[in-house]
Amino acid sequence: MMKVEFTSSDKYEGAVVVPVFADNRHSVGADALDEASDGTISRSQKGSRFTGKSGQVLVINAPSGVKAQAVVLGGMGDRDAADVLGWEAYGARAMQAVLCSGAKTLVFDQRDLDAPASARAAFGALLAAYRFDKYRTTLKDDKKPSITAIRVICSDSAAAKAAFAPLSETAEGVCLARDLVSEPANVLHPEAFAKRAQELEEFGLEVQILDEKDMKKLGMNALLSVGQGSNYGSKLAVMSWFGAEDRKEAPLVLVGKGVCFDTGGISLKPGAGMWDMKGDMGGAAAVTGIMRALAGRKARANVIGIIGLVENMPDAAATRPGDIITSADGQTIEVQNTDAEGRLVLVDALWYGLRYKPKQIIDFATLTGAIIIALGHENAGLFSNDDALASALDAAGKASGEPVWRLPLGAGYDKLIDSKYADMKNIGGRGAGSITAAQFLRRYVGETPWAHIDIAGTAWKDKSDDPREPVWATGYGVRLIDAFVAEQCES
Ligand code: BES
Ligand code: MN
Ligand code: ZN
Repeated sequence: MMKVEFTSSDKYEGAVVVPVFADNRHSVGADALDEASDGTISRSQKGSRFTGKSGQVLVINAPSGVKAQAVVLGGMGDRDAADVLGWEAYGARAMQAVLCSGAKTLVFDQRDLDAPASARAAFGALLAAYRFDKYRTTLKDDKKPSITAIRVICSDSAAAKAAFAPLSETAEGVCLARDLVSEPANVLHPEAFAKRAQELEEFGLEVQILDEKDMKKLGMNALLSVGQGSNYGSKLAVMSWFGAEDRKEAPLVLVGKGVCFDTGGISLKPGAGMWDMKGDMGGAAAVTGIMRALAGRKARANVIGIIGLVENMPDAAATRPGDIITSADGQTIEVQNTDAEGRLVLVDALWYGLRYKPKQIIDFATLTGAIIIALGHENAGLFSNDDALASALDAAGKASGEPVWRLPLGAGYDKLIDSKYADMKNIGGRGAGSITAAQFLRRYVGETPWAHIDIAGTAWKDKSDDPREPVWATGYGVRLIDAFVAEQCES
């Protein structure tokens, strides 16, 4: 655990980072360092291509006259244009620059900046310090992170500390989601995931786990049909947070696809790249991370997180292409492709969520490869039956740096999943694969304001330009919904 403190004392140690604005305009901290080092900072700027442009970083090691192992200049561009996301990225880049440098403390000198800027810089640094190294046994000492503490020097340290407190819970939620997505499926199978969800009771969440017997009784055969080839029992975990003044107030319900491993089932996937399908529970991870964050920061809202946990395996007991199943709400489904399993898990989990009479219901799923073709890794796909909900999510995406892009729904797409033998089939044609998947879900939610967020392109990335994100699992969705709840439910 990273130690984070806010202080008004200007004591330096470890690595010290100061902001520099466009055209090399110094912050007060940069000026102080320049003076103490007899102009070394200015000379380093002149002797390099550093100009204070947003995104630039210049590391100056052991300048004389300064009690620090290193000084880091972080370019912030135009001072008036710097927003909270800019400060997050600034903090993240500073952390990236010195995480494994040998310095133990990263000191931000923000003494002429306001509390939100200071808090966001620390938040960005925390997100950038994330690593998933637990399975490495031969990591060389000089490749191991050395930073164990963040110290922020600011004028109003009490205000900065208060602004940071909820963000530190959000960061915990993001890192939990990253951990869950990164865990391999031999470790994080449905039963193990359910246990991890149960452990969140420690934060004041009410957690209930349904097993196969419970779900059979409820008729949740769509979800169960996906897991029936697995050696692990399928689970539904329900995590509830009642933070609104009135416990009876209609909740926001979040639903997550938790396919702990997706082989494709009998419609087996090709071998190359199949290992990434350990992350096919990214929707469930996002929902779990969000619940952890909301409980941690005691959000003033009622929110229920429901995750469907299954493993999609080929097996003598597995569902076959052509099988017809009956979902919990009574609609029948012809399973033409056992690799289109996420929607089967989601519709029964959505059905369960609708029993809470939610004011809104939002699902997260690594649902379709087609969303990567459409949007790449920059935006998650957003589908909704409600314009107000869609625009609120769009705003939360912009505010949090986890953007969504809305795609259409409509009757023309809906008819593509009509089946010859049942109410619907679980695949459309070759075209509009992400939309026909969303239409499938649409048939279950009625008039309840609903949004579906396809995170197949954003739950993990092979490489990212965002300094806040590690190499693979991003934790996408936690910051988005955290911002959504703050804006829509708490204010
Ligand atoms: N989990 C996959 C979607 C996916 C693909 C997530 C790549 C992340 C990266 C999903 O279950 C799936 O297999 N979808 C199929 C649907 C098709 C059979 C209609 C797909 O996208 O190919
Ligand atoms: Mn699949
Ligand atoms: Zn899948």
